[in-house]
Amino acid sequence: MGGVGTGASFIANIQALARYRLNLRTFHAKDTPDIHINLFGHALQMPILAAPVAGTSLNMRDAVLEEELAQAMLGGAAAAGSMGMAGDGPNPALAQIGFAAIKRLEGRGCFISKPRRPEDILRLLRQAEDSGAWAVGVDVDAAGIIGMVRAGQYVGPQPVKVWKEVVAQVKTPFILKGIMTPDEAEMAVDTGAAAIVVSNHGGRILDHTPGTAEVLPGIAKRVKGKVTLLVDGGVRSGYDALKMLALGADAVLVGRPMSIAAVGGGAEAVAALLGQYADQLRSAMILTGCENLAEITPKILWNADEA
Ligand SMILES: Cc1cc2nc3c(=O)[nH]c(=O)nc-3n(C[C@H](O)[C@H](O)[C@H](O)COP(=O)(O)O)c2cc1C
Repeated sequence: MGGVGTGASFIANIQALARYRLNLRTFHAKDTPDIHINLFGHALQMPILAAPVAGTSLNMRDAVLEEELAQAMLGGAAAAGSMGMAGDGPNPALAQIGFAAIKRLEGRGCFISKPRRPEDILRLLRQAEDSGAWAVGVDVDAAGIIGMVRAGQYVGPQPVKVWKEVVAQVKTPFILKGIMTPDEAEMAVDTGAAAIVVSNHGGRILDHTPGTAEVLPGIAKRVKGKVTLLVDGGVRSGYDALKMLALGADAVLVGRPMSIAAVGGGAEAVAALLGQYADQLRSAMILTGCENLAEITPKILWNADEA
C-alpha cells in the first residue's frame, strides 16, 4: 500500500501537511463548532470522507475479502454520519462488489470508475446509479496504470470533450478525482463536473509529484466556489483535515488509515476512526477560533513572515 517508485509523491503529501502550523487563539466565544456539511444534496456530520480503496488481493495479500473491505469502509463511514467511496480495479468484480455495498446502504456512497473507455465508464456509472449511489466519478489519475491494461482492462487519458460527454450522460453528481494543476482544475469545471478531488492517488501512480497540500491553494484560487473542492493525500488526523480546509478544500478524503481500520476492526473501527478525526477537528476549531466550516480560512495558518 506504499507509493510508486522512490515514494517521493507519498512522502510529499505527508511533508506538505506537516509544514503548515496552526495559530492558537482563545479570546473568543466559539465553543461549539459546527462541522456539518451538505455534499451532493445530502447532509453529512463531518467534512471527512472515506476514500475509495479497493483490491485486497493486489494490495493487502487477501487480508480480508473484497466484500468485507467494501462493507467496512462504506458501512463504517455511513455509521459515522459520513460517506465512503467504492473503487474499481483490474478485476471487474471489484466494481460489482462496490455496487452491492452501496445498495445495502440505500445509496449512501459514491462509485469511482477507472478511466476506462468512455462506453465502459458509462456502463459502470449507470450500474452505480441503479444501486442508488449519491455520486459517481472517475479517478482520471489512473490513466497510466499499465497493470490494468496488461490485465486486459484498458485505461487511458481523455480530452476534456470526452468528460463533457460523460457528465452530460450521468444523472447523479459527477466527480473527477486526480486533479493536480490549476489549469486542469479549470478544465474540470468546464466539463460540468460537480466535484473534483485534488489527489495524486496517495502517491501511488506518478513518482515526484508535489504534495496535495502544496498544490491545493493554487487550485482553490482558481476554482473555489465553482465546484465542490475535495482533497486527499496524507490526512492522518482532524488537525490535517483542518489544514486542508484552511487551504481551500470543502471536505477531505482519507485512504490508507480507513482501510487499515477496516481490515483490523471492520465497520466499527472505520466509524471510530472517523469519530476521532471529527473530535480532533472540533477541538482544533475551538482553539483556532472557528465556529463553522466557512470560518476556516488561511488566517488560522501560522505565517512566519507575520510572526
Ligand atoms: C490500497 C489502495 C487502493 C486504492 N484504490 C483506489 C481505487 O480503487 N480508486 C481510487 O480512486 N483510488 C484508490 N486509491 C487511492 C485513494 O482513494 C486515495 O486517493 C489515497 O489513498 C489518499 O491518500 P492517503 O492514503 O494518504 O489518505 C487507493 C489507495 C490505496 C492505498
